[in-house]
Amino acid sequence: MLLQYQSVVLKPRNGSYGRDIVFIKRNGPNAYRIHNEQNAVTMRDTDKLLKWLRRKNRSGGYIVQRRLQLTQIQHKPFDIRIMVQRKKGSSSTWNVTGSYAKVAAQGYLVTNVTSRTIPVLEALRLARIGDRGLLVKAERIARLAAQRLGERYPKLRTVGFDIGIDRKRRIWIIEGNYQPDLRPFRLLRDSSMYRRILWYKNIKAKKDG
Ligand SMILES: Nc1ncnc2c1ncn2[C@@H]1O[C@H](COP(=O)(O)OP(=O)(O)O)[C@@H](O)[C@H]1O
Ligand SMILES: [Mg+2]
Repeated sequence: MLLQYQSVVLKPRNGSYGRDIVFIKRNGPNAYRIHNEQNAVTMRDTDKLLKWLRRKNRSGGYIVQRRLQLTQIQHKPFDIRIMVQRKKGSSSTWNVTGSYAKVAAQGYLVTNVTSRTIPVLEALRLARIGDRGLLVKAERIARLAAQRLGERYPKLRTVGFDIGIDRKRRIWIIEGNYQPDLRPFRLLRDSSMYRRILWYKNIKAKKDG
């Protein structure tokens, strides 16, 4: 993938909470710039890089993704979490029940290590990247993705999508979480989303959906 893209992201398959995510950037024909947590090093040899990676994650291997150029707020990248839920009974439709933006801490490329949580519209405004229209678009993408996943997983009722917006305002799904953390919603000043999420968790759809 590094032959195809300037920059990639490696994520441990055995779950990480952002801690062991590695960003690798091609830096000349046989050199790489590696960024992990707040540290960055250069490696001048492909074999060295592979050895380093194997030592770092012996057990599970990695998922590799193209690195997105996430929009930033004061040089800190951010992405958004969109909660999508459906009621009990798989014929019911998927709805967006909450969202927030995660702003990376100083020096970090991931937004889930000691990040700041703010309302999405505020993040879009601070980044001067868009307004409600962009959020509506991202919500539609999250709903469509959940619908597709729900066809495969009939019992699935909740997906927390991490969604990135790049500098060209393109919208990307970073990942979907089936047991998303609800704490950030509880901590938001406006508790209406948190209450809606809990309500949805417990409600059953009527027979006709
Ligand atoms: N392809 C990518 N390009 C840029 N940043 C990414 C990419 N994938 C992940 N990140 C950053 O790392 C964070 C954590 O990655 P994620 O896939 O959500 O794993 P997890 O939350 O399970 O640790 C994301 O929220 C995002 O800030
Ligand atoms: Mg995530």
